[in-house]
Amino acid sequence: MLSEAQRQQFVREGYTVVPGFRSVDAITRLRNRAEAIVDDFDPGISSSVFSTEMQSHQSDDYFLTSGDKIRCFFEDEAFDAHGQLVVEKAKAINKIGHAMHDLDPVFVEFSHGADLAAVANDIGLAASKVYQSMYIFKQPQIGGVVNWHQDATYLIANPMTVTGFWFALEDADRENGCLWVEPGGQHSPLREQFNVIDGVGRTRCLDTTPWPMGDQAIPVEVKAGTLVVFHGLLPHYSAPNRSKRSRHAYTLHAIDGHSTWDPTNWLQRNIPLRGFA
Ligand code: FE2
Repeated sequence: MLSEAQRQQFVREGYTVVPGFRSVDAITRLRNRAEAIVDDFDPGISSSVFSTEMQSHQSDDYFLTSGDKIRCFFEDEAFDAHGQLVVEKAKAINKIGHAMHDLDPVFVEFSHGADLAAVANDIGLAASKVYQSMYIFKQPQIGGVVNWHQDATYLIANPMTVTGFWFALEDADRENGCLWVEPGGQHSPLREQFNVIDGVGRTRCLDTTPWPMGDQAIPVEVKAGTLVVFHGLLPHYSAPNRSKRSRHAYTLHAIDGHSTWDPTNWLQRNIPLRGFA
């Protein structure tokens, strides 16, 4: 599935880009389904706000028990000082997570297939297990920053084989908050690890290597339908979306079938695990 050049880019730079991986029709079906999930969501249930400053989630049961469910999370800037939504609900959701790929038929279809299994195989993931799905809205004007991080901070496998599969559902560019990555940064150490022990989440500093600066980072500007595959240690971030356009994306995270899922992961599941096929 990957060309030799794409495979080599993944090895060398920690990520690769596959344009035209999903069709316009497939994207439309996924977007419509996400819209319906948000429509059905009663904001009274939770005002859980998502932020990669996971500190805010440490005692957030709604988040910590979402690993095998379909739940909606709000943007940081969705509420005013009185706790009232500042925009309509459909424009206030940050993401849906974290098990649509196993629980919702439309998401199941989008998240599986021989093509995805082949990409996983090409980058060396054997018998992959897909642990997490996220539908990320990056809403116009209030879509928040996702600070520099490595996904292996939040998803712990032994050995570390966490790999992200990021699908652009709309064109993503600097204006609406595309991904930025540090090519080659997958060779840098894991800076932090988020563990849940006895129901309490805590981020530990493992290494003080600074985050990339200046021209160490490059924007990954891609068209809708593109798949970006990236290594769990690759530093990446996305700027806030201050534009008038949304920047919908869908992500899956998988590990090699021979890695074990650490018991201190925040994400725990009581539903069967599947691969990409
Ligand atoms: Fe990430």
